Amino acid sequence: MRAIDIQGDTGDSTILVGEVLESLGKYAPLEKTAVITDTNVRRHYQKDFPSCEVIEIGAGEVIKNLDSVGKICQRLMDMGADRSSFIVGIGGGVVSDIAGFVASIYLRGVRFGFVSTTLLSQVDASVGGKNGVNLGGYKNMIGVFNQPEFVICDMNLLKTLPERELLSGFAEIVKHAAIGDPRLFSYLEENYEKAINLDPQVIEKLVSDSLNIKSSIVNRDEKEKGERRKLNFGHTFGHAIEKTTGISHGEAVSAGMVIASELSKKTGYLSPKEARKIESLLKKLKLPVRLQIDPENVLAAIRKDKKRIGSAINFVFLKGISHAVVEEVSINALDEAIRDLPDCPRDQVTVLTDISEVKNES
Ligand SMILES: NC(=O)c1ccc[n+]([C@@H]2O[C@H](COP(=O)([O-])OP(=O)(O)OC[C@H]3O[C@@H](n4cnc5c(N)ncnc54)[C@H](O)[C@@H]3O)[C@@H](O)[C@H]2O)c1
Ligand SMILES: [Zn+2]
Repeated sequence: MRAIDIQGDTGDSTILVGEVLESLGKYAPLEKTAVITDTNVRRHYQKDFPSCEVIEIGAGEVIKNLDSVGKICQRLMDMGADRSSFIVGIGGGVVSDIAGFVASIYLRGVRFGFVSTTLLSQVDASVGGKNGVNLGGYKNMIGVFNQPEFVICDMNLLKTLPERELLSGFAEIVKHAAIGDPRLFSYLEENYEKAINLDPQVIEKLVSDSLNIKSSIVNRDEKEKGERRKLNFGHTFGHAIEKTTGISHGEAVSAGMVIASELSKKTGYLSPKEARKIESLLKKLKLPVRLQIDPENVLAAIRKDKKRIGSAINFVFLKGISHAVVEEVSINALDEAIRDLPDCPRDQVTVLTDISEVKNES
């Protein structure tokens, strides 16, 4: 097991890579703990939950809203949860985002931790102290910064994850490698098959190296005033594609990273060879790289991005693999730039299997 520490203004957090769900009692006071989980995780793993109150919240992005928050708080009240209560979110990013938010506002805040059950949440969502819910169709509009006391990343739980959810996690790992770790990038190039097959050693290394990148950035810039913006590599277009096509976050970010690499190439920052390496790695990890999208809709979504500053946006370019830079660019310039790209994003189409699979239940 490896422990990675995060020191935030809102508290310290320890990420336990390779720890197991069954050891939860070492970190949370079980007699005072309420577990928040989703339907799929409960179905697979309730047998390994400690014996404490369990609040189940359905599953999927659709439940990440204020309505669920209200219902959970009501359940906590009904069960007599008080200031000394402890909340553990056991699930993927949806559960950790909601559970962390509830724990931050119930009685003005109670202690909390997570057991992270998807690859995406292990390498990204449950780490870094951002918690919150969607509002009116817009992602993460309501939320707080607050660090969980611990995050258990139990690799065994990934075995039941649907393949497309697993692949989504790889997109964030490629992102971490592409913005800050050339060795991780090479390691992925060499071990992608083992990674897809969930080789325990390879997965543990990928998760902990990825967390090293994210945690060191969060330690330097918890509130996203500067360096943390690099973690948005691929996400300006990724979020817009996710919103307009309905594909999963990781898949959209994969296509978004290809567009960001193309724009970095166009600006003269990234060599054609490096851009090809990024695209090729994503393809090896079975992620979509070029999607048929409607530039009008995508740009309209970017114009509503909550991270935009008036008519401009902080865009993450690569000045080489593992060297990210953030520059303010006008959204109009982005609009022109993507229309100019030779074969991106319109002409090459990766045909996805049925999109409804993205939201499937294992
Ligand atoms: N707070 C942050 O910094 C941050 C960062 C990135 C993403 N996010 C958020 O995370 C969310 C996405 O997270 P996600 O990809 O983990 O999605 P998710 O939590 O919806 O999980 C994906 C699917 O897998 C199922 N599942 C979870 N664990 C399983 C397991 N071990 N076995 C079988 N099925 C399992 C879930 O029920 C769900 O159907 C988004 O809402 C996104 O906004 C937050
Ligand atoms: Zn992401």
